[in-house]
Amino acid sequence: MNYNFDQIIDRSNSDSAKWIYYNDDPLPLWVADMDFRSPEPVIRALHERIEHGVFGYCMPPVELAETICQRMRDLYDWEITPGQIIYVPSIVAGFNYVCRTIGQPGDEILTLTPVYPPFLTAPRFQDRVLTTVDLTLVKQGQHIDYEIDYDLFESSITPQTRGFMFCNPHNPIGRGYSLEEQQRLAEICLRHDITICSDEIHSDLLLGDTTHIPMATLSPEIADRCVTLIAPSKTFNQPGLQCGIAIIQNDTLRRSYEKAMRGLAGHINILGYTGALAAYTQGGEWLTQLLAYLTANRDYAVQYIGDNMPTIDATYPTATYLTWLDCRNAGIEGNPHQFFLTEANVALNDGQSFGKAGKGFVRLNFGCPRSILTQALDQMRDALDKIG
Ligand SMILES: Cc1ncc(COP(=O)(O)O)c(C=O)c1O
Repeated sequence: MNYNFDQIIDRSNSDSAKWIYYNDDPLPLWVADMDFRSPEPVIRALHERIEHGVFGYCMPPVELAETICQRMRDLYDWEITPGQIIYVPSIVAGFNYVCRTIGQPGDEILTLTPVYPPFLTAPRFQDRVLTTVDLTLVKQGQHIDYEIDYDLFESSITPQTRGFMFCNPHNPIGRGYSLEEQQRLAEICLRHDITICSDEIHSDLLLGDTTHIPMATLSPEIADRCVTLIAPSKTFNQPGLQCGIAIIQNDTLRRSYEKAMRGLAGHINILGYTGALAAYTQGGEWLTQLLAYLTANRDYAVQYIGDNMPTIDATYPTATYLTWLDCRNAGIEGNPHQFFLTEANVALNDGQSFGKAGKGFVRLNFGCPRSILTQALDQMRDALDKIG
């Protein structure tokens, strides 16, 4: 079937956080959900489950675990077993459990910044100490990208460092890490006996001919110290259904993780399981069409910014539906997020919430119909033109 991603769906009366959070109805290109309907088979499966009419406590469907194992085998040649899968109500909860699992209160956890804001709060919430390592910004013309400073990464490790929270593909910089980059990080983690939490929630959202390499596939030694987090939520636009997946191959690590969850992690919503199974088994056609649409939106947005906003530098994302804009040379007084909100009536994410390296930046979500993206970019361009 052909999906129409140009269709505008009114979300204003659907309790959508994206659409109701801000008062003055700005165009919302902020939080990472997309303005598209989920795949038709997901909607159908949910209808059928609702029709059943009994919503009691449930067990994880056996077929879902088998499907996830098969998916990892097909996509990455990665052999995992159903027993190595733990369901989590959300990926943010999933990495908070990791922080509780590793080390003791007061121990340190590393992350590369700028990064998805809950990476910055999770260690603190779990009585650990966060150490941030800034990625190095590289600029070519109006395009920006980031590189890892491995010396800085290694020199930030202390005897108290127990964990590394890795975001791959990385939100907000919109790209995954190559084999070589991951190998270098992995070697350092092995050398210092550091547990890795690899958040791969964006790993299906690959633009153009990009591929993804799960950190745990690098070697058995790395798999042994890895918690991998994946979900159908971003991929199939169902984050409100809340079904996340932790893959932990090391038995001791997995038992510690389960202990850290005890009494805190609620059951997965039955509709979450239903949606996940339908998405993974029948969502492929939708995903192929979605990725083509997102790739075209990415090209359009980056080209538009290049042509019409010469003072803004942008990433050229190869994964996710997020682009990261450097507004520091745009002559904006104060915070660019506030500027675009009040002067352009467009809601973006404030770069500062991604760590101090994000000051002067905003994140733009292009997972929306092209007409909404165009309108938002036009309004941003007009606001920038007014300040010269
Ligand atoms: C890297 C990353 N991890 C986790 C999440 C949130 O996942 P969940 O809604 O399952 O907590 C997001 C959402 O944007 C994200 O970008």
